[in-house]
Amino acid sequence: MTNIPVISKTGLWTPEESVSNAELVESFNAWSTKWNDEHAEEIAAGTVEAKPLSNVEFIEKASGIKSRYVINKSGIVDPDIMRPVIPERPDTDVSVLAEIAVNAARQALDAAGRDASEIDAVICAASNMQRAYPAMAVEIQDALGINGFGFDMNVACSSATFGIQTAADFVRSGSAKSVLMVNPEICSGHLNFTDRDSHFIFGDVATAVLVENKDITNGDHWEILGSSLKTQFSNNIRNNFGFLNRAAPETRDNKDKLFVQEGRKVFKEVVPMVVAMIQSELDRLNLQPTDLKRMWLHQANANMNRLIAAKVLGREATPEDSPTVLDTYANTSSAGSIIAFHKHCDDFEAGDRGLICSFGAGYSAGTVMVEKSCA
Ligand code: COA
Repeated sequence: MTNIPVISKTGLWTPEESVSNAELVESFNAWSTKWNDEHAEEIAAGTVEAKPLSNVEFIEKASGIKSRYVINKSGIVDPDIMRPVIPERPDTDVSVLAEIAVNAARQALDAAGRDASEIDAVICAASNMQRAYPAMAVEIQDALGINGFGFDMNVACSSATFGIQTAADFVRSGSAKSVLMVNPEICSGHLNFTDRDSHFIFGDVATAVLVENKDITNGDHWEILGSSLKTQFSNNIRNNFGFLNRAAPETRDNKDKLFVQEGRKVFKEVVPMVVAMIQSELDRLNLQPTDLKRMWLHQANANMNRLIAAKVLGREATPEDSPTVLDTYANTSSAGSIIAFHKHCDDFEAGDRGLICSFGAGYSAGTVMVEKSCA
């Protein structure tokens, strides 16, 4: 009998605290003004450049972001700290990244009516793991009481689609019937809140996707019609933090140990890559753009999504065609397209089709074509 992979349910955990653009800009401007005062002589002598001020209107116009959820607000908005304060936990406690993944996972399992004992594997797919090892997925597996196996994978902002295809391939091959794929993203931990060009970009969240064999699903689900993955090396989005530079002093000049990007180049190079990928996936599956009720695109930039959707559809996209969650969540790396899917899929009827699409550092991009199927 053929094994058909489906998405049976998803889960979403959102932090309680959020930071508006106005709050973020206020702390950034207080920090940069203080820095400029402290370096007034060098700035006057022309040996260092003054730090520029940030601007609420710019942020919303350039990105579509109005606010972001974060795991710790007080540290981020304190001009003397400018980073989330996340206390280290003893090894006997569940780690923060595992905890938020478990929160999202429990939602997906409950919604699917699935007991942890019925899950065969856990994939933790995210931009940043909290530690080198043991794998986050193994801790998440343990916290949920899941048997079988778990492992981590990192394909930056595209991690979720790569995780879904991997899970779907396990189901197709018969090596698993039910795979939990989670995306815990504490993006505020790798964001440089003292960099004006990027301090507004990211937020924190966790998502979960249950990928299962169609023959064990209980209710409505999403058949995975096909998926495609692509990577192409680029330095335009990069983070050099790693175990080989652990002794590097954590100064603000050490910028490349946090997220850095050439945003304009990313925009220009990734849009055509993703459009071509979606078009060739539609061709491969013998579908037309009009066969798509919705595209749940990666949430990095509203203008980028508008352009991608318009190029694929051949017309301006409506919020129904390509919903955004950027205004409230900002860029949540791999979780973005899954949040969009989770929040904007209830109006689908049997036979309606949609596309989950991610893109980001690597470069990396992935598509997952789904069709609603009712019990
Ligand atoms: N406040 C005020 N002005 C700012 C600012 C801020 N916070 N940040 C940048 N600016 C200024 C720049 O210095 C620049 O000024 P200049 O023209 O005098 O040089 C101007 O605004 C335009 O900056 P630019 O970086 O060219 O803006 P942009 O329109 O390209 O938008 C991004 C910036 C990052 C939002 C946008 O390029 C983007 O989202 N790219 C894709 C990023 C992406 O998808 N990354 C993937 C991550 S997973």
